[in-house]
Parts: sequence; structure tokens; C-alpha cells
Amino acid sequence: MSGGLVLVAEGLVRRRGDKTIIAGASLTLKQGESVALMGPSGCGKTTLLHLLGVLDRPGAGTVLIEGINPWSKGRNARAALRLRRIGFVFQQSNLIPFLSARDNVALPAWRLSGSRRSALAQADALLDRFGLSVQAGAPGGVLSLGEAQRVATARALVNRPAIILADEPTGSLDSASTEAVLDSFDEIVREGTTLLVATHDSRVASRMHRMVHMQDGALVDQPIPTTSYPSPFTALKIPAGGRP
Ligand SMILES: Nc1ncnc2c1ncn2[C@@H]1O[C@H](COP(=O)(O)OP(=O)(O)O)[C@@H](O)[C@H]1O
Ligand SMILES: [Mg+2]
Repeated sequence: MSGGLVLVAEGLVRRRGDKTIIAGASLTLKQGESVALMGPSGCGKTTLLHLLGVLDRPGAGTVLIEGINPWSKGRNARAALRLRRIGFVFQQSNLIPFLSARDNVALPAWRLSGSRRSALAQADALLDRFGLSVQAGAPGGVLSLGEAQRVATARALVNRPAIILADEPTGSLDSASTEAVLDSFDEIVREGTTLLVATHDSRVASRMHRMVHMQDGALVDQPIPTTSYPSPFTALKIPAGGRP
């Protein structure tokens, strides 16, 4: 469904206690586009992503994933939809701590295909792509934050979902790992996957096709900044040739 609507959310509302966190948020994501979800800490990005990823039910409004309303289906159909079509990168990586990095990544593929062997092969390929081959055998619980976040990103990609929802996936990464994750995002978007990334990082946002901003619980379109401001440290970088 080239150019089709992968996700359509309309009028989403989510309250917690007497606080309305999401107050009529609407968003449409087309196939193959990448979007940055921006907004200050506490504004409701995670809450919104959980609604879009069918992890949490909106108090009002609708979410359609490839035209399907998951909340009109049974629990099993919803779980199957999530497994096949939605890759979720949690803000806290949510790895299973006693399973190896490799098994964490392989698990969704194993559940989908029933083949442990092919699931492990897919996991190895992804871990390699993220520069994590050395850590493949390490339990999820002993990985550094940055490693865990990359493993979690690999896990979200393993079933080649139609849409990836990533909650500050580079929040605890150094620039090299951030680049590795962003490069793999570029690649999957080129392959036709839709990507929504909650982020504070303007470098991440500037790599997306467009940007939406959470404001008072709703979403407002924003232009991508055309000039990215150089870091004050850029000037200190020593070029490959030697002296700055
Ligand atoms: N489980 C929860 N129970 C009660 N309040 C929550 C819960 N999770 C988040 N909140 C509140 O909802 C608001 C939005 O949080 P969140 O979606 O995590 O924002 P963001 O991801 O943009 O930082 C915050 O005020 C937060 O305190
Ligand atoms: Mg958050």
C-alpha cells in the first residue's frame, strides 16, 4: 500500500486522575514517512505513543492501524496486530533481563514464525548492524543503557513492522550509537517503513521528514528547522588530517 495511511489517530483523549494528558490529539502517518514527535518532558509523548501503539486504550477518539480499529477486536487479535505490524521502542528499554541480547531480539520473530533458528539468524544480523555482536550473549540486565537501547531498537525491527514507534530511542546514547540508530532508521524508512520518534534531540528531528509538536495535549505541525545550529564543540573537532 504505497503512500497509504498506515496510522490514523483522531481526537485522542487520555486522562489520568483528574488531569487530561492527551486532549484531542490527531495524527496521520503515511507509509514510508518519518516524523519527529517533539515536546518538553512531561507533556505526554510517552502516553501518546502508548495509545498509538495499542498498548493503552484512549478514553475517547480512534486509532486505526492500516485501516483496522484494534479496539474493535479481541485481545488476541490486538496482540497479533502489535506483533506483526507495530515495532515499539520503549523509553526504558524493557529488555527481559535474564535473556541474552540475542534472545531478546529473536523472541518476537520466534513468536511470529515459530522457527527459533531463523529468528536467531535475524537477531544476529540486526545485532551486527547495531555493532552489538560482542554483546549478543550477554543478559539484557547487564548491558549499558546505550547498549540496551540499541538492542531494544533491534527487537522492534525484527518482524519488519509497518510502523515503528520509538520513545526517545537515542536518549542515553553517545553520538556514535545515535548515528548507528539513525542510520538504521534511514534504512528502514527507505524500505517503506513508517517511523514516529519521540525525541528532544534536534539532530534526531532534523533527520525526519517532518515534525509535530505536542502542545496542551494536542499535536501541532511544525517545520523542520532548515539550519541546524552547530554545537559549540564542533569548532574544536580535529579534522582527519591532524590539527584543527
Ligand atoms: N502511570 C502514570 N500515572 C499517573 N500519571 C502519569 C503516569 N504516567 C505518566 N503520568 C503523567 O502524565 C504526564 C505525561 O507523562 P508522559 O507521557 O510520560 O510525558 P513525556 O513522555 O512527554 O515526558 C506527566 O504529567 C506524568 O506525570
Ligand atoms: Mg516520555
